[in-house]
Amino acid sequence: MAVELREITDDNRDAVLAVRLAPGQDRFVTSVLDSIDEAEDNQEGKPWYRAVYVGDEPVGFVMLSWDLDPCPPDMNGPWFLWKLIVDERHQRRGIGREVVARVVEIVRAEGGTELLTSHVVGEGGPAGFYARLGFVPRGDLDPDGEVILRLPLQDALPDAG
Ligand SMILES: CC(C)(COP(=O)(O)OP(=O)(O)OC[C@H]1O[C@@H](n2cnc3c(N)ncnc32)[C@H](O)[C@@H]1OP(=O)(O)O)[C@@H](O)C(=O)NCCC(=O)NCCS
Repeated sequence: MAVELREITDDNRDAVLAVRLAPGQDRFVTSVLDSIDEAEDNQEGKPWYRAVYVGDEPVGFVMLSWDLDPCPPDMNGPWFLWKLIVDERHQRRGIGREVVARVVEIVRAEGGTELLTSHVVGEGGPAGFYARLGFVPRGDLDPDGEVILRLPLQDALPDAG
């Protein structure tokens, strides 16, 4: 699946905001609009975000903390996968994997050695997805009780099954 990460501009904003989660997935991540608002309100988290495209269709959204000075327990990094959304109609087609692969390329090119993320625990959540890509629990929880995961960037991502 060839995915492209594109900037969000006035020309594509509405189309990107139309990316939708499946019912119940709002337990695990905020909407695109709320994620962009969160970025605006949390500049200290060094937000960097892009729309995910397959061809000319926006199919997702990704947001990172870009090389921040970690300040645990609230701000983990320097490289933290803050949001990842694949539109409900496009899930389970390999797009999420490709987005993480693209993020890994970007972070490696900046000299990063690990990518962190966190997730809410619950049925239907992304734990299995992250495990499949090689993320492992760091052994701690964030202040909201989310499990913190780390992906060492020395190795290639595991192959698609
Ligand atoms: C989690 C999410 C990003 C995964 O994206 P996706 O495009 O559906 O995932 P992929 O198709 O790339 O899956 C990659 C691998 O993970 C597995 N996988 C995907 N979702 C999974 C899940 N919920 N549980 C277990 N395994 C899962 C796939 O089967 C695939 O395995 P394979 O390599 O053996 O084929 C997407 O489902 C989503 O946007 N969910 C709602 C929001 C969310 O929870 N975001 C993450 C928290 S910020």
